[in-house]
Amino acid sequence: MTPYLCKKKSGVTNTGINVEEAGLLLQRGKLVAIPTETVYGLAANALDNQAVANIFAAKNRPTFDPLIVHVKSLGAVADYVTHIPDQARQLAEAYWPGPLTLLLPKKPIIPDLVTSGLPTVAIRVPRHPLTIDLLHLLDFPLAAPSANPFGYISPTTAQHVEQQLGDKISYILDGGECRVGIESTIVSFNSKIPRVLRLGGLSLEDIETVIGKVDMTLHSSSDPTAPGMLKSHYAPRKPLSLYKREDLLKQKIKQDIGYLFYKESTQIFCGINCHFLSQDGDLNEAAQHLFGYLRLLDESKVQEIRAEILPEIGLGRAINDRLRRAAAS
Ligand code: TXA
Ligand code: MG
Repeated sequence: MTPYLCKKKSGVTNTGINVEEAGLLLQRGKLVAIPTETVYGLAANALDNQAVANIFAAKNRPTFDPLIVHVKSLGAVADYVTHIPDQARQLAEAYWPGPLTLLLPKKPIIPDLVTSGLPTVAIRVPRHPLTIDLLHLLDFPLAAPSANPFGYISPTTAQHVEQQLGDKISYILDGGECRVGIESTIVSFNSKIPRVLRLGGLSLEDIETVIGKVDMTLHSSSDPTAPGMLKSHYAPRKPLSLYKREDLLKQKIKQDIGYLFYKESTQIFCGINCHFLSQDGDLNEAAQHLFGYLRLLDESKVQEIRAEILPEIGLGRAINDRLRRAAAS
């Protein structure tokens, strides 16, 4: 590795594409924001208890909400888990690197703080060239929750991270805009039939193509034992309400309200506080734009935000899940 060249100016976060610098900082127990295909993560050495504690502190995240561990390959997973069920392996082989997190029985090397005392560890191989390079450079995996203050909208650009957590992070590895735009899909293998605990960037259809029918447990009011599924989450500060398309289209557009439509329509004439997640109804494109537009509206002068509910297919399900949680606060 090359020496640590870029000096951090006081109070100003270092942002760049220097994987080696990011690696050196992580080796020293520091926090580094990393790009993934889903959202940006706030990373630290997953095997270093103090570094992991610093993640919770920086995010203001309760320690009952466990973290995802990012590894460089499926081959590396065996170092951290006692067993990989067949169906988990089939999914990993089909979709890693990618927006899929598997819950697997952990080895003692993974600190209890990472898993909030649970016997399983959430693990995934992210799909972003900078972060894959970084993981290959390191001899430890990276614990990384989404790089936002707890409960707020996840960041999909380095600028989003900088705005909210910039002063708490040693370096932001800038990998551009996240391609998928919503967090990974989480699957558990505790019972005979695998169970989806969080809908995300890998669709239910894609999962079931490989391993057949799965169960799902999503909305669980505020029960931390079904982690990550807090009812109110991913939330803008402004009130958000949800509508069926036909109901939203009937409304008279007001300047002090922000609008988020699934796709364009000749019926819609709206101004700067109105966004289309996709031009012609591509659910992947819609997912990619969701958090960025929610942030824009939250930062604008509007008093409230109104959003359209999407079709319950493909990534539409995960987008609706985020919208419902965002609206629940
Ligand atoms: O796409 C993603 O998953 C992003 C990127 C950075 O990888 N990460 C992410 O992390 O969304 P976070 O911390 O925002 O969400 C992880 C979710 C949490 O809701 C947590 O409760 C759940 O995963 N989780 C972690 N470990 C778990 C476990 N052992 N059992 C059940 N849920 C777990
Ligand atoms: Mg998060």
